Amino acid sequence: MIKPFEGKTAMVTGATRGIGRAIAKMLAANGVRVAICGRTQSGTQTAVKELVDETGGWITGIECDVTKPEAIRKFFAFTDDHLTSLDILVNNAGIGVFRSVAEMTGEEWQATIDTNLTGVFHCCHLAIERFKRGRGGLIVNIASLAGKNAFAGGAAYNASKFGLIGFSEALMLDHRHDNVRVTTILPGSVSTEFGRGPRADWKIQSEDIAEVVRMAVAMPERTMVSSIEMRPSRPAK
Ligand SMILES: NC(=O)c1ccc[n+]([C@@H]2O[C@H](COP(=O)([O-])OP(=O)(O)OC[C@H]3O[C@@H](n4cnc5c(N)ncnc54)[C@H](OP(=O)(O)O)[C@@H]3O)[C@@H](O)[C@H]2O)c1
Repeated sequence: MIKPFEGKTAMVTGATRGIGRAIAKMLAANGVRVAICGRTQSGTQTAVKELVDETGGWITGIECDVTKPEAIRKFFAFTDDHLTSLDILVNNAGIGVFRSVAEMTGEEWQATIDTNLTGVFHCCHLAIERFKRGRGGLIVNIASLAGKNAFAGGAAYNASKFGLIGFSEALMLDHRHDNVRVTTILPGSVSTEFGRGPRADWKIQSEDIAEVVRMAVAMPERTMVSSIEMRPSRPAK
């Protein structure tokens, strides 16, 4: 049976667990050939194997720390070799360091900005080169409601996600006439291992974010799902 997205290819950053993994799983289950990354080769290969077992889909991967431009270039070269073309880039890799400005170190600040913002720039830059050689493409940026609402202890994370939302909008305006669609997703609390609080049933589940990505991919090319906010229906009081 032909799957809905058969023939498409995708890269997903930070897909060893959490939201990125759920997105990679959804894409592979729908027939997309997917390349994923995480910071270590062992973690990435374990995720690849598990995702192949879970979906029966076509998934590969390589270590890539998105704070390192050279590692990003290698991830794209690896993808060129294994996927040959690129239709979808999901910028999901992200970290959160939650401390007041006085308590935060320069290294923590830099790591947050490099992962959540500068890494996205480098990935988009290389993806657009490939989109222009092909039929265009879709970029999905996983931002956050923390990119609209600041909170105490969030200085670095807020700055990175406010920046990512501005970057995503400008990216869309720069390249919409090159057949590049940009979807920015702004989730509230998602039940993952991410920094703020334990997993919980009342939170958004990673699969719910993947469902929005599925909708963005499925949308007719004339229409772009440009920005989506998601939040728990009934947050803990
Ligand atoms: N959870 C939430 O409540 C929430 C809400 C809004 C937005 N978000 C955003 O959603 C995204 C995913 O979050 P999550 O909750 O799924 O977090 P998570 O469970 O901690 O997963 C983060 C993923 O990113 C990878 N990663 C981290 N730093 C990386 C780097 N420098 N290079 C490559 N990969 C890296 C990790 O892989 P390795 O450890 O194997 O490297 C892991 O696969 C982030 O951008 C986050 O800001 C999360």
